[in-house]
Amino acid sequence: MSGKIPRAFIDDLLTRVDIVDLIDSHVPLKKTGSNYVARCPFHNEKSPSFSVSRSKQFYHCFGCGVGGNAISFVMEFNHLNFIEAIEDLAAFVGVSVPREVVLEREAVESRNLSEVYAVLQRVAAYYVEQLRSSVEGKSAVAYLKARGIGAEVASEYMLGYAPKDWQGLENQFPRQELLAAGLLVTHENGRVYDRFRERVMFPIRDKRGRVIAFGARVLDDSLPKYLNSPETEVFQKGKEVYGLSELLAKNGRPKRILLVEGYMDVIALAQAGIHYAVAALGTAASRAHLDLLFRYSSELVLCFDGDAAGRAAAWRVMDAVFLSLKEGRQVRIMLLPQGQDPDSLIRSEGAEAFVERVASAHALSEYFFQHLLTDVSNGDIEGRARLVEMAQPFINKLVEGVYREMMQAKLNALAGLKVAEVSKERPNARQNMPSSNVSGQMLGRVSSARTAVALLLQNPDLVDVLEQKKIDWQLLDFPGKSLLFTLMHKIIEGNPANTAMVLELFRESTEYPQVLALAQMDLQLPESGIRLQFIGAIDRLIEQASEKLYTELLKKNLTDLTLAEKEMLKKMRINN
Ligand code: UTP
Ligand code: MN
Repeated sequence: MSGKIPRAFIDDLLTRVDIVDLIDSHVPLKKTGSNYVARCPFHNEKSPSFSVSRSKQFYHCFGCGVGGNAISFVMEFNHLNFIEAIEDLAAFVGVSVPREVVLEREAVESRNLSEVYAVLQRVAAYYVEQLRSSVEGKSAVAYLKARGIGAEVASEYMLGYAPKDWQGLENQFPRQELLAAGLLVTHENGRVYDRFRERVMFPIRDKRGRVIAFGARVLDDSLPKYLNSPETEVFQKGKEVYGLSELLAKNGRPKRILLVEGYMDVIALAQAGIHYAVAALGTAASRAHLDLLFRYSSELVLCFDGDAAGRAAAWRVMDAVFLSLKEGRQVRIMLLPQGQDPDSLIRSEGAEAFVERVASAHALSEYFFQHLLTDVSNGDIEGRARLVEMAQPFINKLVEGVYREMMQAKLNALAGLKVAEVSKERPNARQNMPSSNVSGQMLGRVSSARTAVALLLQNPDLVDVLEQKKIDWQLLDFPGKSLLFTLMHKIIEGNPANTAMVLELFRESTEYPQVLALAQMDLQLPESGIRLQFIGAIDRLIEQASEKLYTELLKKNLTDLTLAEKEMLKKMRINN
């Protein structure tokens, strides 16, 4: 089906679906207080920290931090994309999905896309055929055999062979689609020829199993060793991993996923019976990669070759790792012995020893601090200061929660800082269920802007407070202003009935993760205190911003002030 789904239908769908019924049909819920709880379906746990709110039409896990509305739940639970989730939900309530009339050009484009997928699939099958039955293919079969790869794994991963022919594909498949699929190269002189020749072919499939690109290895020592498809409309390197579709075919909820560096590592591990490995595509693992993998497993083991390049690569992914970590997600780092990769290691040591290495991979915190302490020493003040300088930016990337506090505590301990409050203040706060109604307990620790945004997200009807306050958004400045402002506008414009609908207004925006986190923030306020707290937070924001502006204006030359600034200054003089 093509065509955009009308916004109004999505709102209507969210109104019709009751998230409690929906989730209860997948995960049996128990009522406690005003919420429903269950053991979280997105991570392993013994006692329930997954909570569903009927009034907010929103779910949230206090253990692993997942959360969202009905659409998010269906996406996460069934591994669907947005459109698929809408279709699923529509079926759940028994309505069909209307589509806006599509422009001619868009229709053509989306038809092309499915033809691009189709040609990739057919070309992959052609390469398999070449491997199996062509005379030339025999050398590739021999190559794979020599590397210990059997027929079963070869067929599971759809390994193939691209023959020597420069025009092998064009003779059989439509040129336009081949070009769009990245399978042809256009020479300067305008001539077009096959990109992959005389190579073992590794089809790269997306999580739904569609072939989207290829990796291709030479059969000898010539260079370049691997060629890869260029980025196309259906293939973005930074977002896909090799072997995920094959892994999911074996096990939809693996206990852990091992991220390795090479195509052949994935294949060799599968050959050894280790079916939970995937590879980043010749690039450093990105946050998108990690988030993708965390959708299927709560534990990632990142495996790096034992050489200097491998160790450098391990440190390079730390940015992405810290950004994607939250409670319930675990990352471990596995550094192989010098000169080895998983493929060579498994052949020299066997699968069992390799699995043991996986099991004893470093905890992230251990690797992280050890790595830093090889560079700096915490034996003197200078070293400790340097340690804090290097570590703090990473820790700042972590979402708020117990894990971040523990990493902070560890850094403080190593640096000899006294910040004893960290552990005293809020033991196990994340494990408290929302019923623990120590009112406003958290508010002291959270900035006014975050409080304001969180409250507004969770209670969109508070928007009238902002409308009445007549805030001078242009002159006043405070951290979090733009999000608060955007949120206010979206609520005024879209008039969402609950948190679930507000979230939907942000789904496509870069602010979504932040908005999602704030929508889930447990402010631990009694119902009756919400409006007052919000007004208080807004007043504090205005006050702080005005003070800041006042001192800034006072520093300026009177002649440099704009008219609006002069007005403001006058008003503030009276108040101050
Ligand atoms: P490696 O050189 O470690 O590859 O590169 P490998 O998988 O161990 O290959 P074998 O064992 O020699 O066959 C790791 C990954 O980097 C990318 C590929 O994705 C490869 O799997 N790469 C490497 C390229 O894209 N191009 C190259 O020329 C080399
Ligand atoms: Mn290798």
